[in-house]
Amino acid sequence: MSENNFDLIVVGGGPGGYVCAIRAAQLGMNVACVEKRGSLGGTCLNVGCIPSKALLQSSHHYEAAAHEFASHGISTGKLSINVKEMIARKDKIVSELTQGIEYLFKKNKVTYIKGAGEITSADKVTVAPEKGKKQVLTAENIVIATGSEVTPLPGVEIDEKQIVSSTGALDITAVPKKMIVIGGGVIGLELGSVWRRLGAEVTVVEFLDSILPGMDGEVCKQMLRTLKKQGMNFKLGHKVTSAKKAKTGVTLTVEPKAGGDAETIKADTVLVSIGRRPYTQSLGLEKAGVEVDERGFVKVDHDLQTNVPGIFAIGDVIGGIMLAHKAEEEGVAVAEAIAGQSAHVNYDAIPGVVYTWPEVGVIGKSEESLKKDGIAYKKGKFPFTANSRAKSTSETEGFVKVLADAKTDRLLGVHIVGPIAGDLVMEAAVCMEFGGSAEDLARTCHAHPGYGEALKEAAMGVDGWSIHI
Ligand code: FAD
Ligand code: NAI
Repeated sequence: MSENNFDLIVVGGGPGGYVCAIRAAQLGMNVACVEKRGSLGGTCLNVGCIPSKALLQSSHHYEAAAHEFASHGISTGKLSINVKEMIARKDKIVSELTQGIEYLFKKNKVTYIKGAGEITSADKVTVAPEKGKKQVLTAENIVIATGSEVTPLPGVEIDEKQIVSSTGALDITAVPKKMIVIGGGVIGLELGSVWRRLGAEVTVVEFLDSILPGMDGEVCKQMLRTLKKQGMNFKLGHKVTSAKKAKTGVTLTVEPKAGGDAETIKADTVLVSIGRRPYTQSLGLEKAGVEVDERGFVKVDHDLQTNVPGIFAIGDVIGGIMLAHKAEEEGVAVAEAIAGQSAHVNYDAIPGVVYTWPEVGVIGKSEESLKKDGIAYKKGKFPFTANSRAKSTSETEGFVKVLADAKTDRLLGVHIVGPIAGDLVMEAAVCMEFGGSAEDLARTCHAHPGYGEALKEAAMGVDGWSIHI
């Protein structure tokens, strides 16, 4: 086999691509992973999941010190935040993790090729490095894992200084006095929380009448109430139509979506977080004959194969929920399928987490979607105010809701707003993967005092026998 000939070429080194490459190497393939960013880990490790969680943690500590320590009898004196140090800590974490993936590539003998990949035919990828000559790689199979990019908002041009995307919002050098967040989805609420906790006056402008659209209605309502109580402002049912920049800040024109008078609002920093779109720029999809849908997502079949045999696609670039762990599952499935194993992704059991505080952890069907699909269900709900662990940590905001099939008791959905909701929901994920029932959760012994007891009690509530409420 020549140096440029591989069993598999993965284009894109994000959570979809790097996991696929490692799994394929584990299964005995000679794998190359082409990445143009200059570091591995994709959006997630470089400018997404990890840096945002690092800042959420720093700002969480700051808020706890400012507002919660006193009730424990701890006094801190005058608090201050050194934004530079906070950002440097975040950068260090990112750098350690991205280098960690390089180590994993070496360990698994995956060839890491730095440069932009272009698929020039069903078995060829041309790589243009930042400097130097192009090289042509060949392989029997190619996986497209090129991810997504920020959806721009016409009239509100991102400069990553005054008007930032999520990437710029991770690198703000001083806490803005006023921040406007356009879009009340996951990014808006997480990064809006970071800067609000550190002292910014944050207003979220959301086009729809609810934040976190698509999530269970009770979760959306609870989160709106909770975030308002924390001091975040909301303008629901409004759209931003233009932005005017000046040295003193940005003036946005905002209109009710239902029609009516426009108004202007001013901010030092504006965050545009209205979603992400597939990234396939200069990838050569047309040359290779790979079809995309009307929104630009690469079209794949049940086996994640495109219309061109031997070319597969995974992760954000194929759409569906844009989450790192969904991309990873698809990466593993494709590698195993190419190796001749039977592989599939269970899209019904992919958890979603919003890392605000309290967190949101959800999996499976919402009540709204069950009603829409005409599925009869039973419901159990338990508030954290009645959970003794939550009482002892003063983290009583939120609830657990368990939805189960009315006839079979099979677990259909779990929706949590509360402390460590993102970890609690994993218990439901395992139960759902095993086709478990609400009773399975209800009759599983949970350590006391634990937040998990709220999940158990909600599951008991499905059959009306919650004890502590
Ligand atoms: P990506 O991670 O986008 O990776 C694609 C890679 O391909 C990129 O590195 C890109 O440089 C490279 N590439 C593109 N074109 C080429 C080419 N032609 N040649 C070579 N390389 C190329 N998800 C979660 O599950 N949990 C979270 O907490 C979370 N937080 C997030 C926070 C933010 C601020 C953002 C923006 C996203 C967050 N996400 C989170 C979403 C998550 O980052 C994505 O779902 C995930 O990164 C998708 O993985 P991927 O491998 O499909 O694509
Ligand atoms: P999103 O799709 O979650 O939210 C976008 C919001 O913007 C929606 O509420 C939408 O109604 C609103 N919107 C759209 N156009 C608008 C307009 N013109 N004016 C006002 N509001 C408008 O997208 P977001 O937050 O940008 O995140 C992108 C992706 O990144 C998501 O798919 C998410 O899955 C992923 N992500 C995941 C995280 C996690 O798992 N914790 C954290 C951050 C991002």
